[in-house]
Amino acid sequence: MSETNIQLHKPVLTQEVLHYLDPQPNKTYLDVTFGSGGHTRAILEKEPRCKVIALDWDTKALEVYGQPLKQEFGDRLTLLWGNFALLYKILKKERIQSVDGILADFGTSQIQIFTRPGFSVYRDSLLDMRMSPAHQKTTAAEVINQADEKTLATIFKDLGEERYSRRIAWAITQERKKKKIVKTLHLAKIIEKIVPYNPRLKIHPATRVFQALRIYINEELNNINAFLSSAVKLISGDGRLVCISFHSLEDRIVKNFFKKACQEEILSILTPKVITASEEELRENSASRSARLRAAQVIKKS
Ligand SMILES: C[S@@+](CC[C@H](N)C(=O)[O-])C[C@H]1O[C@@H](n2cnc3c(N)ncnc32)[C@H](O)[C@@H]1O
Repeated sequence: MSETNIQLHKPVLTQEVLHYLDPQPNKTYLDVTFGSGGHTRAILEKEPRCKVIALDWDTKALEVYGQPLKQEFGDRLTLLWGNFALLYKILKKERIQSVDGILADFGTSQIQIFTRPGFSVYRDSLLDMRMSPAHQKTTAAEVINQADEKTLATIFKDLGEERYSRRIAWAITQERKKKKIVKTLHLAKIIEKIVPYNPRLKIHPATRVFQALRIYINEELNNINAFLSSAVKLISGDGRLVCISFHSLEDRIVKNFFKKACQEEILSILTPKVITASEEELRENSASRSARLRAAQVIKKS
């Protein structure tokens, strides 16, 4: 499947994003995870007099989905490439001192899962998993074939919350003595023999290991930590920060960051209870089932 002939990534919790970000006329909002631009478009359409700066570290996403949006919205949309962990530096280089609100929709887009090598447990492809291949060295295949058994088990347990992490790590080290593991389905088959299918969860037995590898390769949790610290400093006035997570570890980082910033009187929390998809959205888009939204407002310094 090519990049252009699959459907766009369906944005999740769009109404909730608009409610909490609350775009206002003559203000500028930053979407640090542009993807295929669903949320960016929704913000630009909701408030026709606001501007959006949209960032992604996936050059292809910016090219394929960013350029058409740029043509449509002209100078109301600015596209930027970069890793949101380096947000402060990226905005400084662009001479942008502050924005009026920030949205982050962490994780991978469905386009990356369906078209890029390594992300899907259902499609045979090279075990790559880099979200920004031109700027990252290590692939998932290198980790699977070179990391020691203990390191593999730790990745699967800590980043995938995988119960069978040690047995899977052992099986991988046995298999790679016979044959290098370079393709997704080869890895998925090794895991299928160990992890029983759970009909209640309706996920492939290798999903957790794939997720853990993806988080490890792309340093996703470190990136979120670095992003949150910069984001609160870059929002002006009493602007808002809205974060969507798909993984409990991501959501925990956001939750704890908000809690601490609230105690330090930097943020006030707008979502005491995490926001999840409505029944209606769940029916229309099953990918929204793990989405968790948290929002906070910067406490204006007097
Ligand atoms: C869930 S998708 C966002 C979908 C988007 N909200 C939409 O409506 O289409 C996550 C996006 O974040 C990007 N991303 C992930 N980690 C990133 C990082 N550290 N810096 C910048 N972009 C990142 C991915 O490349 C992907 O395009």
